[in-house]
Amino acid sequence: MTESRPAAVIILAAGEGKRMKSSTPKVLHAIAGRSLIGHVLEAASAVDPAHVVVVVGHGRDQVLAHLEEVAPWADTVVQEEQHGTGHAVRIAMGALIAEHAFTPGPVIVLSGDTPLLTGQTVAALVEAHTSSHAAATLLSAVLDDPSGYGRVVRDSHGAVEAIVEHRDADASILDIAEINAGMYVFDSAELMPALDRIGSDNDQGEQYLTDVVGILRAQSHPVSAVRVPDSAEILGVNDRVQLAEAAQIMRDRINDRWMRSGVSMLDPTTTWIDVDVDLEADVTLLPQTSLLGPTTVASMARIGPGTTLTSCEVGEGAVVIHTWANLAVIGPRASVGPFTYLRPGARIGVDAKAGAFVEMKNAELGDGAKVPHLSYVGDAEIGAGTNIGAATIFVNYDGQQKHRAIVGKHARVGSDTMIVAPVTIGDGAYTAAGSVVTEDVPPGAMAVGRARQRNIDGWVERRRPGTASAQAAAEHDAGETDSGATDR
Ligand code: UD1
Ligand code: CA
Repeated sequence: MTESRPAAVIILAAGEGKRMKSSTPKVLHAIAGRSLIGHVLEAASAVDPAHVVVVVGHGRDQVLAHLEEVAPWADTVVQEEQHGTGHAVRIAMGALIAEHAFTPGPVIVLSGDTPLLTGQTVAALVEAHTSSHAAATLLSAVLDDPSGYGRVVRDSHGAVEAIVEHRDADASILDIAEINAGMYVFDSAELMPALDRIGSDNDQGEQYLTDVVGILRAQSHPVSAVRVPDSAEILGVNDRVQLAEAAQIMRDRINDRWMRSGVSMLDPTTTWIDVDVDLEADVTLLPQTSLLGPTTVASMARIGPGTTLTSCEVGEGAVVIHTWANLAVIGPRASVGPFTYLRPGARIGVDAKAGAFVEMKNAELGDGAKVPHLSYVGDAEIGAGTNIGAATIFVNYDGQQKHRAIVGKHARVGSDTMIVAPVTIGDGAYTAAGSVVTEDVPPGAMAVGRARQRNIDGWVERRRPGTASAQAAAEHDAGETDSGATDR
């Protein structure tokens, strides 16, 4: 049935979204790593429309820039002044006909602020519209609390007769629990003349798209309604409370899908996964873990608790505990954390380890190499099998420029070494604990870059007499003498 391919989807997004109290246009607020309008565009693409046109108005510069980035294939039209949903659709139809070689057919109208709408529901709406031969088909829902919404008024045969906005409704209409979700399919041939007949004689003085329903019925065109199976789908985001509500529902949907495909989650209510994340079966996610951006996690990896990974790649069987990472690659069976900070360009090799209180940036840790404790590794390359002692710092910044350091394979860098870049420590080389390494260390050499220790005997008793330290030293000396006497 090629004729059922929608001629266009029109997405209304010109409204101000005042109740968000935000400098960001409402439809650009995000849940699960995608803007509200991005979610609607995704649902719209499911029915493969010939055109998608977004009506923009308030905050148009930001909205247009965003659309250019996430949906360059979508057309846009500016509604300079917002005279209502009917006005917005008329402008969109005008643009489609004038600029986009529009061919008549089913036209879907959606709102830019309903991120939970699914592609399946849009497809079901189109399917119902095509098979019923109605001039218009709207999506409705039965709500416990229908206040604020337009009510679906049916005649004695149960056919849709009109939609009456809440603020224009009398008491008997306010009793109707079936509401208009604000998502429709129209036949373009019937829609165009009906749009021209919309008035603005209502409480808001606006041109209501919903009036098209009464106009079509008055001309004996059939209008049908499809009830959405899950009323969460039509949740419109008008304020930050609804934004959080939508985010939770989206989180649960995403988590359910991953659990059903083999991912374990100890606490799905504190596990947040963006829409672009990809997980293999047998991944385990521990509480308070967020996987954001296009993060991927391979099988048998265990992430969390308390971990946030943004745009990271995690290999098979890796373990990542209490970690904050962005644009990092964690190799198969690697171990990261607890309390590890991986910044862009950190690459942890196979079986490698970045341990507690380690920060890495633009640095590669070779296969089986370890940075177990308290280190900063910036702009460095560490060879396979090398061990970096506790509290080693890669000194990459001279105050003006960043420099790179290289440590070869199977090297042993002593604890608290300062590796002052640019510098190279050769394969199999050692550094003495506490060294400041400023010159290259040849393969197999031991670098000692620190002052030799000298002990000044009796200094404390002479220079800090009467202190607890002096007393402790004196007691120790006495003990040595006593035990020496009895032992002998
Ligand atoms: C609309 C419906 C109502 C339905 C509800 C569902 C009308 C008259 N009423 O009411 O029956 O129950 O949606 O959520 O349509 N917009 C524009 N340009 C405009 C006006 C609005 O682009 O001139 C956009 C808004 O940004 C928003 C959408 O259209 O995305 C809906 O407009 P809104 O004013 O929120 O309509 P509601 O009062 O919610
Ligand atoms: Ca609304």
